[in-house]
Amino acid sequence: KDIAQRSSTGALPQHDRVGDLVAHAHERYASVDDGTVADYIPVLAEADPAWFGLSLASIDGRCHSAGDTGIGFSIQSISKAFVFALVCDAIGHDEIRRVVGVDNTGMAFNSVVAIELNGGSPMNSMVNAGAIATTALMPATNADERWALIRDGLSRFAGRPLMLDGEVYRSESFTNHRNQALARLLQSYDRLAIGPREAVDIYTRQCSLSVTADDLAVMGATLADGGVNPITGEQVVSAETSRDTLALLAACGMYERSGEWLFEIGIPAKSGVAGGIVAIAPGKGAVGAFSPRLDSAGNSVRGQRACAYLSRALGLNLF
Ligand code: DON
Repeated sequence: KDIAQRSSTGALPQHDRVGDLVAHAHERYASVDDGTVADYIPVLAEADPAWFGLSLASIDGRCHSAGDTGIGFSIQSISKAFVFALVCDAIGHDEIRRVVGVDNTGMAFNSVVAIELNGGSPMNSMVNAGAIATTALMPATNADERWALIRDGLSRFAGRPLMLDGEVYRSESFTNHRNQALARLLQSYDRLAIGPREAVDIYTRQCSLSVTADDLAVMGATLADGGVNPITGEQVVSAETSRDTLALLAACGMYERSGEWLFEIGIPAKSGVAGGIVAIAPGKGAVGAFSPRLDSAGNSVRGQRACAYLSRALGLNLF
């Protein structure tokens, strides 16, 4: 709050200024040591809590980076935003709303109770149950094709081929009992388009794709740019789908903290338990942040502070 709020002009400031502010945000929050590294997926506990990378990609294809922006980490829940975009693009706005839903649960990302309280609805594509249901809706004739569409689709958002982190995939596959239970529960309500094993396996793979903070910034900037990747120029999803995705991120991207996030920071965002955050300023660009220390909702502490700083200093707030 001690940072001057730049009023939103519809455009980013000059590039030199953006670069300076990204570097300054990195320096300012690098020593914050609140929060803890996730350990419910065993291999994530090996992350160095000191890692901190911050990147901003603009829709004109410029990237400003500070700190550990080249370190690979698993995309985790941030994949949910981009898989939602791919599936929404494939099956349409009305169908995704009807089958999965677009309302916040007000509960933790892996809640079972949220499903029970809502008549078996997975509620939205940003919580685990809804993400598993969304992955299951990707039109494909078999599991290999479904996985290829998701991996290649996320790679087109990043503008480079994304690789599976096999260690994360195996670690999570051995311990994802809760996700298996969520999928079975959805199946019992007839809310899963494919078998629960396949749905959870592909979901686990998508969460295990390795990205960098630079990748997250470019992926987010693609949604900021109406679905056009600002580096490759490829139209990855339609402008309508980008808008739908950003609306859903604003409502649900930070789980039960989404309202607080929107109130303080004012732009759509998505977090992952490996410590990534993507925060998207429509028509301007996106911030990719990476730092493994998380708050109790599973959101990176330094990432949130850096996004708050940049939102104020660059005038990103939508409201
Ligand atoms: O399914 C899970 O629990 C993980 N693959 C992803 C969870 C996650 O990233 C929650 N985010 N902050």
